Amino acid sequence: MSERPVGRESEPGPSGRGSGRQHVDSPSGPAEGRERGATSSVAVVTGANSGIGRATAIHLAAQGYDVYGTVRDRTRATKLAAMSAERDVEVKLVELDVADDGSVRRGFDEILGHTEGRVDVLVNNAGVAGNGTVEDTEPDHYLDAMNVNLCGPVRCCQAVLPRMRERGSGAIVNVSSVTGRVAALAQSPYVTSKWALEGLSEGLAQEVAPFGIRVVIVEPGITRSAIFAKSVDAPDRTGAYGDHYRRMFQMYAAGIAHATDPFEVAEVIHHAVTTDDPQLRYHVSWGGEELIGGRKRITDAEWVSLGAAPDDDAYYTRFQEIFGLDIRPAG
Ligand SMILES: NC(=O)c1ccc[n+]([C@@H]2O[C@H](COP(=O)([O-])OP(=O)(O)OC[C@H]3O[C@@H](n4cnc5c(N)ncnc54)[C@H](OP(=O)(O)O)[C@@H]3O)[C@@H](O)[C@H]2O)c1
Repeated sequence: MSERPVGRESEPGPSGRGSGRQHVDSPSGPAEGRERGATSSVAVVTGANSGIGRATAIHLAAQGYDVYGTVRDRTRATKLAAMSAERDVEVKLVELDVADDGSVRRGFDEILGHTEGRVDVLVNNAGVAGNGTVEDTEPDHYLDAMNVNLCGPVRCCQAVLPRMRERGSGAIVNVSSVTGRVAALAQSPYVTSKWALEGLSEGLAQEVAPFGIRVVIVEPGITRSAIFAKSVDAPDRTGAYGDHYRRMFQMYAAGIAHATDPFEVAEVIHHAVTTDDPQLRYHVSWGGEELIGGRKRITDAEWVSLGAAPDDDAYYTRFQEIFGLDIRPAG
């Protein structure tokens, strides 16, 4: 199996490199030249209708996995169907809303019924964005983001862990974000949900290590997807944080212009679940390495003072000094 050591954590963190050598069954081989579905390892990818989830479902299918892609509405999965057909792979669709207990139960009953209870790889990818400062954002907005980005993975993990433990193998990939490590400006509900997912994942990795189950946290930077268009923004109620919103949107504008192809994230996920030298964390995509590395190098006081930059030019200059990224508006 070809492996590309992409997006790996540059330094071992407290729970990083080499923390586990859990066994993950490899798929029975590439899709070409064998009977698909007969002996394949089973992968479930949530939020497979677009972006990173769609790319991951297709990429894993192309690597020989029997892939179940969860979507909220199968009638909207036309692009997934077209892209799968183009690559001559099959992604089996299951309707599932990760924010709903009953829907997750029904979806996994369906999957486990087809696979005799077997799921080798669970990719908790489904997620929503959410912008807003703390003062501008209603608590319900936080709860909505948490319900999808944190409780969604909890529900899906609980559906697969009993059988993974019995078999003594399996891998769970939690798609976090660079904002799970760096509290990006004016995105409080999203940042908070991803930091929570990071904590959950670190704890889970220890909890399931004795059972031979691998946990991986993938932290993408800016990746081409539909998430930015769908982001729910808190209203700028106070009018006090206009500088923050403008600078945050400008960082995304700069990043989106160079956004990484979601298939690169899919490759990292495949590498992470198949390598014999697994890490807990992988970062990938535009800005991932720079933002996480830059935050590690500066003090907390320096981080806080970036927020107090007196004007946009001072902000962009300091941002570039810390992270090595030029996010100034073009022209
Ligand atoms: N794109 C980036 O730059 C970036 C960076 C860092 C992290 N991420 C993370 O990557 C993951 C995938 O995001 P993406 O960028 O690929 O965005 P995307 O294209 O919007 O994909 C998100 C997927 O999650 C699904 N989803 C949302 N709420 C759901 C729910 N309640 N139940 C089930 N599915 C739900 C969406 O389904 P519908 O199609 O039905 O809406 C969609 O298929 C997310 O966890 C995101 O936080 C993305």
